[in-house]
Amino acid sequence: MPQRGAGVKPLTIHQRNVRETAVKMRVRKFEVGDLDQVLVLADRYASWDTTPTRADIEGFHSANPDFFFVAEFNKKIVGFVYGRESSPPAETLDKWKSRKVASIETLGVDEDYRRRGIATSLLTALFEAFKQKGADLVTLSVPAAGLAAIKLYGKMGFEPRAHFLWKRLDA
Ligand SMILES: CC(C)(COP(=O)(O)OP(=O)(O)OC[C@H]1O[C@@H](n2cnc3c(N)ncnc32)[C@H](O)[C@@H]1OP(=O)(O)O)[C@@H](O)C(=O)NCCC(=O)NCCS
Repeated sequence: MPQRGAGVKPLTIHQRNVRETAVKMRVRKFEVGDLDQVLVLADRYASWDTTPTRADIEGFHSANPDFFFVAEFNKKIVGFVYGRESSPPAETLDKWKSRKVASIETLGVDEDYRRRGIATSLLTALFEAFKQKGADLVTLSVPAAGLAAIKLYGKMGFEPRAHFLWKRLDA
């Protein structure tokens, strides 16, 4: 007689972490009381050319409250994302075959909580909010060195549209 559970592969540690996080994690809209924790995450993980300041984050929230999400795990904020609608000229919209464009501005997940699907859940919530406002195209810029982010966005269906190049000139 076959043993109970025979043929069922045990979950890997990665799969167990993803599953546990999915149960305990909650993605919800940003609230003003989250500001200090989001600021710490933004300062540590989301600085690229500039680091979002308290005023930037407050400004984003008041301008785009529907597009600002946090991931809460055991009452701790472990990730956040915010975006906004963008308004390219009509000709660009035409070329992009889009009615309304939105962009991802900043995304960061605490390094102790990565590879558990948190960024994926945050982006899924943001895309749903974008769709509800009629956006049909999402853009973003990602640092060339941000390999994790490049993989993440590739997995979520993003395609490269341009390469931003630079070269230092001799003095
Ligand atoms: C990029 C970042 C947001 C990913 O957050 P995360 O919660 O770990 O992402 P997820 O768990 O949802 O990852 C989903 C998929 O993306 C890919 N991915 C994510 N991180 C990866 C890494 N370090 N290496 C390779 N692939 C990675 C994987 O395919 C992963 O699926 P898998 O774990 O089943 O293999 C996080 O690493 C981070 O905050 N980095 C610093 C800030 C940053 O780069 N922000 C984005 C700038 S636009």
